[in-house]
Amino acid sequence: MDKSEADKVRTEGVPVWRSLGAALCLAGFLLGCDSYSDIRATLSPSDEARFSRGQREATACWSCHDVTGSALKVGPPLGGIMGRQVGVVPAFPYSDALRASNWVWNEETLDLFLSAPQSLLPGNRMLSAPLLDSRRRGDLLFFLSRVSGEENGPNSAQP
Ligand code: HEC
Repeated sequence: MDKSEADKVRTEGVPVWRSLGAALCLAGFLLGCDSYSDIRATLSPSDEARFSRGQREATACWSCHDVTGSALKVGPPLGGIMGRQVGVVPAFPYSDALRASNWVWNEETLDLFLSAPQSLLPGNRMLSAPLLDSRRRGDLLFFLSRVSGEENGPNSAQP
């Protein structure tokens, strides 16, 4: 093959390697290593332990939510949840309960919601168990506030 053909193969090969990379990342996540090393690097050892505990708590949310990104699952994406108004992801079919609320999600409102998802915004469709332990909620919110701030939400410029 001549040089231009070789270039073509090399360029076309890139997406394959990208998706392989994504698969490896996922495998890495499942095995317990992850891509948050840049965030971890900014944390003190005790905060890093807290971050890891929060990350483990968040595995309960992944089944219904894209916790850090913008994909729609059974639940709306949580990427950028901190500082976001309740019920505003355009393509998600929210219940009237969430659509009608004009709260903003922050550590306080999320703490209330997760401790009693059904009693706080009555009629909402989040059928997950309440997280009764306040320390575990704190860990989860610590994690969320670092991986799902406004800057990495669906409306951000990031891909
Ligand atoms: C069984 C599926 C399920 C699980 C598990 C679940 N959720 Fe949800 N969640 C939903 C659904 C469905 C909605 C939308 C509810 C509605 O429209 O009434 C929702 C809504 C939300 C909202 C409101 C989002 C917005 O855009 O206003 C937040 C915040 C949220 N969930 C956080 C969490 C967190 C954090 C966890 C993990 C502790 C979790 N959820 C676990 C299904 C789930």
